[in-house]
Amino acid sequence: MYKITSKRLLTENIYLMDIEAPRVARSAQPGQFIIIKNNDKGERIPLTIEDYDREKGTVTIVFQTVGYATKELAKYEVGDYVEDFVGPLGQPSEFIHEELSELKKSKIIFVAGGVGAAPVYPQVKWFYEHGIDVDVIIGARTKDLIILEDEMRKVAKNLYISTDDGSYGFNGRVTDCLTDLVENNEKEYNHAVVIGPMIMMKFMSALTKELGIKTTVSLNPIMVDGTGMCGACRVTVGNEVKFACVDGPEFDGHLVDFDESMRRQTLYKSEEGRELLKIEEGDTHHREGCGCGGHN
Ligand code: FAD
Ligand code: FES
Ligand code: MG
Repeated sequence: MYKITSKRLLTENIYLMDIEAPRVARSAQPGQFIIIKNNDKGERIPLTIEDYDREKGTVTIVFQTVGYATKELAKYEVGDYVEDFVGPLGQPSEFIHEELSELKKSKIIFVAGGVGAAPVYPQVKWFYEHGIDVDVIIGARTKDLIILEDEMRKVAKNLYISTDDGSYGFNGRVTDCLTDLVENNEKEYNHAVVIGPMIMMKFMSALTKELGIKTTVSLNPIMVDGTGMCGACRVTVGNEVKFACVDGPEFDGHLVDFDESMRRQTLYKSEEGRELLKIEEGDTHHREGCGCGGHN
């Protein structure tokens, strides 16, 4: 059992919680995620590790209430316990393995869409703590949906806000904001890290390809076991089959087949769709080693 030690409503329907999970806090790295289960009958909810405190032994999560499981989680209060909190899962962001001297030469921009600001924050904080300047764009439909602005301002070199309805900051989508920075404000970037809804990552990756900016995206397909066995999170990256829970969640945005991922996301929701995927994907439906033979 894992105790909730703090809870905060960041904006409508988006909550931040600190959870006591010393083992996860000890080994968590930026880019990784956990799977939380509210109670013994609860669904498994994958959530990005937003922050961690190794001394206090707590892990921070930020979640949007979109359906049953996240709405149930939002009812939990400080002092309550959740049944399960598994992690850290997935690969850490690739930059934590790179030489700091090389990273210092990079010109990096992080682009967060909506609740994507949660996974972006620990990465930007990591750069700040290692003395490397990075720029950040946070985008949302409207001003009230911008989250973690104050936190991000403390760790980003330049923070740009963009809203689709122009109610705050740049008037337009995050793609328009990046275009404006590069074309009208003489900003130069050689690496973009883009995290948000799949459709936003798709269009951002298309733009950065045109602009010649290397791009990393963090994929959030449906995940069930989080161990590479169930096949739920299968994605195609550079014509290779990958499983986002163990090979990712971060991938080269210029190589991801976003259209396939979005179609899969829709099909996976119905039993009939899952059957269709098994037939279409055959042996690659599950990860090698599962031994189930895909559609068998
Ligand atoms: P449902 O009504 O069951 O589903 C609503 C939508 O959520 C679905 O249409 C689907 O798109 C998505 N979803 C549902 N179940 C899953 C599942 N098992 N795995 C993935 N997506 C699902 N959300 C956040 O708010 N904050 C985060 O930091 C965050 N990080 C994520 C990191 C990863 C690696 C992944 C895979 C997902 C992440 N998500 C995050 C999405 C979050 O897991 C879903 O919003 C949540 O599981 C929805 O559950 P629900 O029962 O409330 O909604
Ligand atoms: Fe099952 Fe990734 S969640 S293979
Ligand atoms: Mg659900």
